Amino acid sequence: PAQIRVLGIETSCDDTAAAVVSGDGRILSETNRHQHSVHAAFGGIVPGLAAAHHQANLPLVLRQTLLGAGLRIGDVDAVAVTRGPGMAASLGVGVAAAKALAAVHALPLVGVHHMEAHALLARMGRDDVRFPFVCVLVSGGHTTTLVAHDVNRYTTIGATRDDSVGEAFDKVARDLGLAWPDAQDGGGLGPALEQAAARGDAARFPLPVPMDKSASAASPDFSFAGLKTHVRRMRDAGAFDARAPQDQADMAAAFQRAAVAHLRKKTALACRRARAMGVDFSCIVASGGVASNAAVRRALAAVAEAERVPLECPPPRLCTDNGVMVAWAGVERLRRGLLDPYTFDFIQRWPL
Ligand code: KG4
Ligand code: ZN
Repeated sequence: PAQIRVLGIETSCDDTAAAVVSGDGRILSETNRHQHSVHAAFGGIVPGLAAAHHQANLPLVLRQTLLGAGLRIGDVDAVAVTRGPGMAASLGVGVAAAKALAAVHALPLVGVHHMEAHALLARMGRDDVRFPFVCVLVSGGHTTTLVAHDVNRYTTIGATRDDSVGEAFDKVARDLGLAWPDAQDGGGLGPALEQAAARGDAARFPLPVPMDKSASAASPDFSFAGLKTHVRRMRDAGAFDARAPQDQADMAAAFQRAAVAHLRKKTALACRRARAMGVDFSCIVASGGVASNAAVRRALAAVAEAERVPLECPPPRLCTDNGVMVAWAGVERLRRGLLDPYTFDFIQRWPL
């Protein structure tokens, strides 16, 4: 049978991305224009600049994506777009483009929740990744556990109360004076910290695992700001020398051990909550840039093993923001008739 094809558009943050995905989970074409270097000089994403770059780049990203798939817009079966959450001006660019394309070509239009897209990607081309499942999203933008009951049906279990886990890796790595070639391009310093930690002794500077005391031990939420500040205070107090390679490595190992223990405990707690809700989950899905960390994957694999389910991680390239996940979420929603009118708008703050 002929497979459906969906065009997906993602502009919620600093990636201008698009892809065409088929109903059986093949990527027919994908394009991603990062703006990392645009924002790097400002130490964070500048909303107005991000929107301006989406405006400038999206038309060619779309053209390149269609050309790459050898398709015209009229050949696709639907247009999917990230509707939120994200930066208003950036979301608006993608949503306006998707609405115009869909409306003039009389195509079904599918608005997608960004987190839903991350979560559903694990099912692309995989009949065995079945609902319900527990999902752990760990990146620079997200630190969340949730239950995916079905398409369009999610229950958030835990979320960070302050910094995301990726931010914590990046800030601690910076405080430790670590460098990484890709970081200039906005790739983050997480890989530099992971590499330093591999040479370090985590026991030399023991750090407390966040939210491990009785008052917050039962909460499935996350907190990384305290851990980050702890490292900075130790450095400022001269407890270690950020210019000495062994001190860097030992501190990196200590931080990673505490951060990973925190992720492991709260993921285990999320699984327990899911079971208490009567959810018999088929697997744990982990995604986001931090899910490419080997220690994180090992820890989550241990949680999954204790729960007697597999751990499913999309390939690292698709763990980060991309158009493929939006196109795939579009496939899943289209199949269930979850369409949106051409008049719909983006939603900046949008709980799942
Ligand atoms: O998903 P992502 O590429 O972008 C979003 O933030 O949405 O995640 C980037 C984050 C950065 O903070 C980066 O330092 C972190 O993921 N990261 C890592 C590793 N690779 C990327 N953190 C720890 N260990 C890694 N190997
Ligand atoms: Zn994301």
